[in-house]
Amino acid sequence: MDSILVRGGRRLEGRIPISGAKNACLTLMPAALLTDEPLTLTNAPRLSDIRTMSALLESLGCEVASLQDGRVLVVGTQAIANHRADYDLVRKMRASILVLGPMLARDGHAVVSLPGGCAIGARPVDLHLKGLEALGATLELRDGYVHASATDGLRGATIDMPMVSVGATENILMAATLARGTTLLKNAAREPEIVDLVHCLRRMGAQIAGEGSATIEVQGVDRLRGATHPVVADRIELGTYMLAPAITGGDVELLGGRRDLVAAFADKLEAAGIEVRETDAGLRVSRANGRIRPVDVVTAPHPGFPTDLQAQMMALLATADGTSHLEERIFENRFMHAPELVRMGAQIEVHGGTATVTGVERLKGAPVMATDLRASVSLILAGLAAEGETRVARVYHLDRGYERVEEKLSACGAEIERIREAA
Ligand code: UD1
Repeated sequence: MDSILVRGGRRLEGRIPISGAKNACLTLMPAALLTDEPLTLTNAPRLSDIRTMSALLESLGCEVASLQDGRVLVVGTQAIANHRADYDLVRKMRASILVLGPMLARDGHAVVSLPGGCAIGARPVDLHLKGLEALGATLELRDGYVHASATDGLRGATIDMPMVSVGATENILMAATLARGTTLLKNAAREPEIVDLVHCLRRMGAQIAGEGSATIEVQGVDRLRGATHPVVADRIELGTYMLAPAITGGDVELLGGRRDLVAAFADKLEAAGIEVRETDAGLRVSRANGRIRPVDVVTAPHPGFPTDLQAQMMALLATADGTSHLEERIFENRFMHAPELVRMGAQIEVHGGTATVTGVERLKGAPVMATDLRASVSLILAGLAAEGETRVARVYHLDRGYERVEEKLSACGAEIERIREAA
């Protein structure tokens, strides 16, 4: 298993290009199941999660062509050959559940394995299922699989989501595009990835209004067509790399970055004493001399502070001049990076959903272990600021969501390398 070796203490300066969003691409690819014409996605990120989604779609009979070195994906099938998404593929990645709504909407039946839990929490899919039932689907849970059917097709409905869910909003939205009549989705997720999905569905001929607000209205249509759509910039990759100059006292321009994608996060960085400026090419982040100021953070659905940046923010606050509180409200078990940061000299106490972080002047390099995608990159950020060497093991988590992380950081002066090891 590969690991990443970071020698800390270098000030980062330069430019980092931001890739297309993993989480947007993972919902745009299944949208191709809604039509018999190909969907072309440009600005796709080159990540192992995207390859997992390609394999899943191929198992259903889709052709997935990866062009321009993986930057462009052409996905489609004239007819879905297999309506069963197998456990072996689904268990690798929760986003696999997003094939359910589109297959059901297009052909009136689908069988999809339940994804199960994951390291950061139980993460059920009940909201996806209730939403599809409200659209007229009959669902049965058997042998770990959801068996879904809608013999007379789906029909529009008013659905009031009991809690905000990104994935459930996406699944229900996609299904509603081909349902008969109007669907009103209340308490919908407002994440930029939802807005991007709606833009793509609209290019495919869907009639949707209200994306980015809590109420989305979908007017069902008889069929959708192929389209070409550029994947939105990855706001989590953007936020992560905004922290690189913040934690090392550097100055980096994030090419393709947009403040509106990370507004709540950028506000907190500024409160911590970091400068964030919009430029013609993106966002420029710098930190003058002096310690980071402590700030309190509470994760929340968009436009709140994203849970996917909580681990990385904790790395920054571990070096602040004072005590910060980080409250995790989306996932129940998302502090696995805390004990690893403590190995690097951080002072962190976790009680329930709140981490109390008392900053230290200097973190110290140590061997640490990545436990999930965002946790692993928080350890790399900490390593950039730490004295000495940090070796992050189990970086396969990282490869699920960050493209060429060593290259992007070393181009700005970081001392970072991948140690390849035989499996
Ligand atoms: C997506 C993102 C993930 C991010 C998360 C929250 C993708 C591929 N993943 O995950 O990176 O961390 O949004 O911003 O886009 N819940 C239920 N029942 C459901 C669905 C969700 O109880 O049917 C709960 C979850 O356990 C969690 C909360 O709702 O506590 C939010 O989850 P959700 O927004 O659905 O996250 P994902 O779409 O899985």
